[in-house]
Amino acid sequence: MPIPYKEQLLENEKVFRDPVHNYVHVQHQVILDLINSKEVQRLRRIKQLGTTSFTFHGGEHSRFSHSLGVYENARRIADIFVRKYPKEKLDENGWDDSERLVTLSAALLHDVGHGPYSHTFEHIFNTNHEQVTVDIITNPQTEIYQILNRVEEGFPEKVASVITKEYPNPQVVQMISSQVDADRMDYLLRDAYFTGTQYGQFDLTRILRVIRPYKGGIAFQANGMHAVEDYIVSRYQMYMQIYFHPVSRGMEVILDHLLKRAHKLYQSDSEYFERVSKRLVPFFKDHYSLEDYLRLDDGVLNTYFSEWSDYSDSILSDLANRFLNRHPFKSITFSDETRNQLAKMQEIIERVGYNPKYYTAINSSWDLPYDFYRPQATNQRTQIEIILQDGTLKELSTLSPLVQALAGQSQGDQRFYFPKEMIAPAKKQIDLFDESYQEFSSYIHNGELIKPE
Ligand code: NI
Repeated sequence: MPIPYKEQLLENEKVFRDPVHNYVHVQHQVILDLINSKEVQRLRRIKQLGTTSFTFHGGEHSRFSHSLGVYENARRIADIFVRKYPKEKLDENGWDDSERLVTLSAALLHDVGHGPYSHTFEHIFNTNHEQVTVDIITNPQTEIYQILNRVEEGFPEKVASVITKEYPNPQVVQMISSQVDADRMDYLLRDAYFTGTQYGQFDLTRILRVIRPYKGGIAFQANGMHAVEDYIVSRYQMYMQIYFHPVSRGMEVILDHLLKRAHKLYQSDSEYFERVSKRLVPFFKDHYSLEDYLRLDDGVLNTYFSEWSDYSDSILSDLANRFLNRHPFKSITFSDETRNQLAKMQEIIERVGYNPKYYTAINSSWDLPYDFYRPQATNQRTQIEIILQDGTLKELSTLSPLVQALAGQSQGDQRFYFPKEMIAPAKKQIDLFDESYQEFSSYIHNGELIKPE
């Protein structure tokens, strides 16, 4: 009898060289086929960090390399679980290795629905990468679906349900998505490596030594608590110093407004956009298929931006040039007390000739470095459990004063963005609007919005 597809192992394990994990090991034919599918290959053409590479120029790595890394983390965890904590020995607290293929597939595919400059694109065109991920996995037209469906009927839906967290086995779900999961453990290390920063470093080897399954999901042995603590602090540092960097957000604002302007102009000059940016037309029309979505990548959008940079509309061409040539908007922080002065600043911006709708923005970035179970919370998270020698579980922040200090509190800031020319105007503009620029600057002190005297 031939070996069923889901059990087919490669005669020689295939390896991919990786700067973070050294090697990514592929053993299943199914996984290799998924990697070779066109939907996964498309992730090579989408940068993991979007506009962050305008600040950290090394951060050009792709979503493809991250996806392989998450797969590799999940594969290692499954190997550890089956060796140290098999279900045969530990019953419901152990790992059932028949879950391996669904877990590895979900790990590899968890980000497959990301588009170019995801967050900005979603905001302007109302798409949702998580929903698209599920669609790609469950749509019979995709190569991914066809591969998964060969494993067994209903398998694509099974993989999708891990990503939507509806899969019945919490060990599988938490391995892919929780506060310490295969996803985060890859992107922190990978983003730190490629941006050339050290903040994201933590001891992955140590964490993998102390990770274990239990019936409610995944826990960590008490003797490895400090490695988990270090990971939480690393994550906090990465958000504050890399992901929330004000300059990257200043580029994101330009991108957002650029797409918004194109969307608007399409209504009056559809002929132009159909000629030079055909693949965006379904999104301008707010009527797109999965196929339309999969045709986009960073290269396609960047080519369009380059086309738009000499279009007759001065707002569109100016924003395109600012994006291509990296002229981020400047920003200041503001508080709830000073917020009401923003209208006044926008008025000045308008007075000197900028349309505030396209030349100003409020951008907030907040993250919870760590959260524990709070019955009132709107967005419940799986708390990190430390397993003591006698088998009892304790929530991490009750054991670690460091994590306690970060727990349950949002960190980040809200910023007001505007053209740099407002504080560093060109010479010929100064004569015309001298007072306006001075007035604008009187609202700013130490990078913060203040009440002028
Ligand atoms: Ni991810």
